[in-house]
Amino acid sequence: MKVLSFFGIKGGIAKSVSSLAFAQILHDDYSKRVLLIDIDKQASSSKTLGCYTPNGLTSADLLTAKDVIIEKVIRHSEYGIDVIPANFELIRANKEVLLDTLHPQQLRLKRQLEPIRDKYDYCIIDYPIDDNMAVINALVVTDDVLVPIKMDRYALDGMEYVIDTIENIKGFNPNIQLKGCFATMYVRSNLYKEGMNALSDSLGLKFLKTPIRQTVKVGESTFEKPLMSYAPNCSAAEDYKKLVSEYLSLE
Ligand SMILES: Nc1ncnc2c1ncn2[C@@H]1O[C@H](COP(=O)(O)OP(=O)(O)O)[C@@H](O)[C@H]1O
Ligand SMILES: [Mg+2]
Repeated sequence: MKVLSFFGIKGGIAKSVSSLAFAQILHDDYSKRVLLIDIDKQASSSKTLGCYTPNGLTSADLLTAKDVIIEKVIRHSEYGIDVIPANFELIRANKEVLLDTLHPQQLRLKRQLEPIRDKYDYCIIDYPIDDNMAVINALVVTDDVLVPIKMDRYALDGMEYVIDTIENIKGFNPNIQLKGCFATMYVRSNLYKEGMNALSDSLGLKFLKTPIRQTVKVGESTFEKPLMSYAPNCSAAEDYKKLVSEYLSLE
């Protein structure tokens, strides 16, 4: 199982939309067995896949419950993607892990995923904007990181923190690799070119060459179903297909 994280410490940069698109494309176009883990208490991707549960087992239980059976946490979505959903219990779980210094705090998700590693080809993790124990646990199991960038004056802010966070995780997980950034909500303008150059020059960041174009279809899809089912031929859907292919060619 290869673990791919859409990580970034900002909201509204398309982490969830990208996680869902990658999960669907890897499943539908490449026949991969895909598990999506949601560690954002807002649970956007859990909800979009119809797997949200306000009171059931979630990723929070994988962090705190010692005897949880992982198969009972996994939900089977109608899209063929399996989901470990999130809910507001993550707030409690994050606190509980911080306070429980008697047990290893960073390796809990890793231990819980052990029994199902061979059941999936890809595990995609959808992140929150906060930095917390769920995020650390998720980065510890991550192979590849992709960072979505919505270009504006503030796009640079926080990127150093993202890079440092990944570097710091290497003590627990030497395999983790920042595969690169990609532009989301792309509109043809100098803003994107100049912004990408600034990020490459100042931080040495690599950009994948496929930008994801901005389209109203993405916003519409959030009310209905995941993008690749709602509008499989829209510009952003086409771009995501290209981006997945580009990502796979990097491996
Ligand atoms: N390519 C796109 N075109 C237009 N809107 C987009 C695009 N990608 C994402 N969005 C919109 O941006 C918002 C944030 O996306 P989301 O995936 O929820 O971000 P995050 O998970 O990083 O907070 C959503 O309202 C979504 O509809
Ligand atoms: Mg999100």
